[in-house]
Amino acid sequence: MVTQSHIVWHQSAVTKKERQQLNNHKSCTLWFTGFSGSGKSTLANELDLQLYEAGIRSYVLDGDNVRHGLNKELGFSPKDREENIRRVGEVAKLFVDSGQIVITAFISPFRRDRDEMRSIFEEGEFIEVFVDCPFEVCEARDPKGLYQKARNGKIHDFTGIDSPYEAPINPDLTINTDQSTVRESAKEIFSYLEQKGII
Ligand code: PPS
Repeated sequence: MVTQSHIVWHQSAVTKKERQQLNNHKSCTLWFTGFSGSGKSTLANELDLQLYEAGIRSYVLDGDNVRHGLNKELGFSPKDREENIRRVGEVAKLFVDSGQIVITAFISPFRRDRDEMRSIFEEGEFIEVFVDCPFEVCEARDPKGLYQKARNGKIHDFTGIDSPYEAPINPDLTINTDQSTVRESAKEIFSYLEQKGII
């Protein structure tokens, strides 16, 4: 562990509140969680588009993409997933500080890791969105053919097969992606942000 006793926090000249006022909306993290194939990325991108069209500053952090760069050395062991989520949470916090709405689309299978991330945000800034879709449906969709590979033993530690997924107990929002269209689901989250006075 590296000692941090000589590192001092530097206060920004422009506050989060001032950045939010400039944007005309508040900032928050919409933390999506759900199985591979549940629709996290598709929904995140549709919501991002709806927000953009409404003049709201948002950005998507996506598991597959972040694992190509920032987290490219991380695998899928519980320890690596924990570190993946920790880094994403910290990056999301920077986005919130910059006055934007950040949508994170990661399986984030462990309750403890998600709760830990909630704890680094201010009250109301972390919105857990359970992208809920029955496991059988996700496996049948198998958009990247990964479930099949996992079933054939070509991939190990695959979520829902030989690695656990802990569903949220009390999410802020649950979206059933097998029951509504992507557009409707994104609209539901959009309306939630309006109700909460974030946008
Ligand atoms: S995690 O659990 O939050 O750290 O995972 P995440 O960063 O979201 O990455 C999930 C995407 O990686 C692909 N993939 C796997 N997923 C689960 N388990 C294993 N072993 C695995 N190997 C590769 C998969 O395409 C996931 O993408 P999504 O978008 O969730 O389908």
